[in-house]
Amino acid sequence: MLRNQKDLFYLGNDVHYLNNAYMSPNLKSVEIAGIIAVRKKNHPYMVQIDDFFKPLEHLKKTFAKIVNCENYERIAITPSASYGLANAAKNINCGNKSKIIIPEGQFPSNYYVWEKLAEEKGLTIEIIEAPKNAENRGKIWNERIINAIDRNTAIVACAHVHWADGTKFNLKEFRTACDRYETYLIIDGTQSIGALSFDIQEIKPDVLVSSGYKWLFGPYGIGFAYYNERFDDGQPIEENWINRKNSEDFKSLVNYQKEYKPFAQKYCVGECSKFVDIPMMQTALDQIYAWGVDNIQGYSEELISPYLTAFTDLGCKIENEDFRANHLIGVKLASHMNIDELANMMKKRNIHISARGNSLRLSTSVYNSKRDLDQFYSVLLENAG
Ligand SMILES: Cc1ncc(COP(=O)(O)O)c(C=O)c1O
Repeated sequence: MLRNQKDLFYLGNDVHYLNNAYMSPNLKSVEIAGIIAVRKKNHPYMVQIDDFFKPLEHLKKTFAKIVNCENYERIAITPSASYGLANAAKNINCGNKSKIIIPEGQFPSNYYVWEKLAEEKGLTIEIIEAPKNAENRGKIWNERIINAIDRNTAIVACAHVHWADGTKFNLKEFRTACDRYETYLIIDGTQSIGALSFDIQEIKPDVLVSSGYKWLFGPYGIGFAYYNERFDDGQPIEENWINRKNSEDFKSLVNYQKEYKPFAQKYCVGECSKFVDIPMMQTALDQIYAWGVDNIQGYSEELISPYLTAFTDLGCKIENEDFRANHLIGVKLASHMNIDELANMMKKRNIHISARGNSLRLSTSVYNSKRDLDQFYSVLLENAG
């Protein structure tokens, strides 16, 4: 079991930050890595040819370890989740299939790209709605998605954990259903990778994307994408010289190369050597690896578990534990509670949280403590009527 890690961050004692799903705070070590990296360019002659390639490779290897991907060359560096998805959409062969399945309310980066593809290829988007009733909501929603996958389904695009309400999708079952029809399974892991175990070899997504500034504790503007063998012969959305074969040979760069580097490396964003972002992201991933993703999830579980019955006793609704994780939980408010009033009270007391519909999104990480949860609970209690 991890102990509280707040001393590795700058968050003050009077701040109750329950919003890692919005953006993680910097680790002190990540800030330092960034400052050192920014200063390096004060002396550009210190930036060596190896610096374009080796840190990039090391970072991909570390991310590959975290998601249990056996070949780090299947990992690309992206500036955002949407970038990774754009490369996916460009290279999907829809054949004569006619629909794309998306569970209701996916983050826009995982919607617009499919809407556009559907318009271009004459496909329809089938949004699978969440049940209106809270009873068995996650279970029924998962079943609805699985039942909708049929021979006409080209793509299932969804998150592992829903960004707004925390519903956990049963990706292994989605994979089994997709396999029947060679349907692409495209996962947005932005709200789970780093906080909830994700095993590429077990889930076998066709594509997994994640931005890096939430549960991966990196800076804003760097993320990751994994592409399986169905994308090996694909074309990237941009032609970045670093991704071409032999780009390490700076003397011969204008001996233009037809060939890309192998596997998914062609999908890396231009200037993927990101001299500031990469050392920061590397420091963050090293820390996550040292903590262990299961321990991070376990920390949130231990923190949140004692409060869940207390929340439901006040009339709030929480998803059944089989269909939620512990790091991001939607607390659906009791009907007499006013979300705007609650959100205002929280703000005044330095409790930072997101309001989504009639739910408060409670997201916790290793820097949170019982004190933060007590503060949150006290506001609910005062509004219990
Ligand atoms: C589920 C999910 N995906 C993606 C993103 C970010 O997308 P992008 O990196 O394209 O800005 C967010 C941000 O909140 C998110 O919650």
